[in-house]
Amino acid sequence: MFDDETLREIRDQFHYADTCPYQGERVFFENAGGSLTLKSVVNRTAELLAIPDNQGRANVASVEIAKIIESGKSDMKELFKASSGTVFIGETGTELLGRLIRSAILVTKGRNIVGSTLEHPATYSACERWAEVVDKEYRRVPFNAETSVVTAEHYSNYLDLNTGVATIIHASPVTGMHVDVASIAQKIREVAPETYIIVDGIQFAAHGEIDIDSYDIDAYVVSGYKMFSRHNYGVAWLSERMAKIKHDQLKGAPEDAWELGTRDVSAYAACSEVFKYLVWLGKKSGASQSSDVRSILEQTTKVIKEHERGLVDLMLHGTDSLRGLAHIEQVKVIGPISSEHRSGMVSFQISGMAAAAVVEALNKKRIRTHARKRDHYSSTILEPLGVTDCVRASVCHYNSVKEIELFLEAVRDISS
Ligand SMILES: Cc1ncc(COP(=O)(O)O)c(C=O)c1O
Repeated sequence: MFDDETLREIRDQFHYADTCPYQGERVFFENAGGSLTLKSVVNRTAELLAIPDNQGRANVASVEIAKIIESGKSDMKELFKASSGTVFIGETGTELLGRLIRSAILVTKGRNIVGSTLEHPATYSACERWAEVVDKEYRRVPFNAETSVVTAEHYSNYLDLNTGVATIIHASPVTGMHVDVASIAQKIREVAPETYIIVDGIQFAAHGEIDIDSYDIDAYVVSGYKMFSRHNYGVAWLSERMAKIKHDQLKGAPEDAWELGTRDVSAYAACSEVFKYLVWLGKKSGASQSSDVRSILEQTTKVIKEHERGLVDLMLHGTDSLRGLAHIEQVKVIGPISSEHRSGMVSFQISGMAAAAVVEALNKKRIRTHARKRDHYSSTILEPLGVTDCVRASVCHYNSVKEIELFLEAVRDISS
């Protein structure tokens, strides 16, 4: 895990690591709702929002703006480990997933669409709606309630040669469990090689390694605010084949152009700030200064994963003096008692208390978490798990052991 000095330097790069402007001091375990924001992202956004010029004009400011956009795109491709394909920015993750799913469903000749019950409504709402519009069948693969993930084997029973579009969620925002995208995609290709495979990486992006070159997929979507950046944009990567399918665009525009109207250049610049931060972290944590960017980012991923896994293990198993969630009698952890597939997240219940009441009690102790209940965001996951509601505590690599201790003390007091 990071030493104190490195962690201090990391936290220093983010706004509001220790305090909320409305509540004062607090521990932030609501990262799955949106990560902390890099100061550099806010500064760069402010600088660029003040500039009136647009790309595509014959003036020096316009040329600079075009360069910023190009750098943002190539930085995101590096971050995604995507050596081919195209990257563009849309309104939100939901908007991007909806648009990509709609376009793929409308162009495919395949008669069925396959997704899983682990998915976020951003995916299944679009699949259900557009499958209905064009009279195609929408199939949903149930996730395994014990492991709370879905696998290639689960998908295989729902695929056939007529599968035109398949969707995969990389990590669930309710349980935090992540799935093996590459093996699911491989299974899909084995059965129906032409399927458009669209992946929701929104929850996964801040925690693990995105390695698009190794997935054999057609689309991958993330949201700025879940990845150390800010609200108001999402990023999509598209394979060369998917980039060129018929889609909503201005007549006469290049066939692989997906942006609709004038995009915000500061969103592209924000992507570059996230990229720079992650490169800084890789170098800071031992990557050789002369290594290529990929090796540096691999080091970043490694240390992020190690630190987060350490935090989740502490949350589950506790310290010498404090019991972890898995060892407090009144607490039930949702999903397996292991940090292996958890993207920085543990969801849990305290017996005899509604999740909302636990969140409120934790708020009073200055620990921010979130309640998930059977609403239109979470019921498809909570129902199969047999859970009415739960508290979601989600960490990121900038959280500390001290914060986990404060959290466990608070849970101990509330549950007793
Ligand atoms: C897995 C997942 N998919 C999609 C979304 C929607 O993303 P956005 O808020 O950018 O529309 C979220 C947001 O919580 C999410 O966690």
